[in-house]
Amino acid sequence: MEAVTAWERYAQNRQPRRAVNAAGARTWLNWTQYPDHGPDESVLGEIQGRRVLELGCGTGCNLAHLAAQGAVCVGVDIAPSQREKAEARWGHFPGLSFVTAEATEFLKGCPGMFDAVFSIFGAVWFTNPQQLLPLVRQQLMPGGVFAFSHKPPAEEQGPVGILREARAVSRWDYSGDEWATLLDSAGFANITAKVIPPPGRESLGTLLVRAETLTDGTK
Ligand SMILES: C[S@@+](CC[C@H](N)C(=O)[O-])C[C@H]1O[C@@H](n2cnc3c(N)ncnc32)[C@H](O)[C@@H]1O
Repeated sequence: MEAVTAWERYAQNRQPRRAVNAAGARTWLNWTQYPDHGPDESVLGEIQGRRVLELGCGTGCNLAHLAAQGAVCVGVDIAPSQREKAEARWGHFPGLSFVTAEATEFLKGCPGMFDAVFSIFGAVWFTNPQQLLPLVRQQLMPGGVFAFSHKPPAEEQGPVGILREARAVSRWDYSGDEWATLLDSAGFANITAKVIPPPGRESLGTLLVRAETLTDGTK
């Protein structure tokens, strides 16, 4: 409950995303903390007609872009008001639904499998990976993609920090190497983790981690 309250408070203080980006697009996917910066949805591979899950989707703006590209999308967020905002803005999109749930609880009761699971500064950063990663692995089809981004860990910080905006929430601030070890243990393959350099005069990059499940389902 404490986490729900904290994330509700966070949700109340967030400004909605712009209606149109710098390129004039009404939907787009942004992996980094900077607008109009970083790689696009191609990180997830082919998504048309695929089932895609976002963990900690907020107001659903990234997921709506994938639905607009023809993916069948489910967004999960722990804060009820995020779903209300997501449905108000994107509810008319076909192939797009939103659920209020804690990420691990959703995955435990999940009725179907996904071709891609992603999280952008989302639930993967704020959930114990020992619990979360095996559940994600279990819900991914063979040949599936798991990708997530967050700020790289600050050197002075321990592995578990605290989210400033919502102090009741733990954050798993791992480096790319640490994530690679955890993902390997959870049965993922083809793991990459890199820091996307920041734009302009900004100093902090974005850690982008990507892993796959093998097509023969061995790992
Ligand atoms: C920093 S926001 C990012 C939102 C969105 N991904 C974006 O890029 O705008 C983190 C989101 O994750 C959600 N969240 C945090 N922990 C969660 C959990 N364990 N299960 C589901 N959602 C969670 C929060 O409610 C919040 O909407």
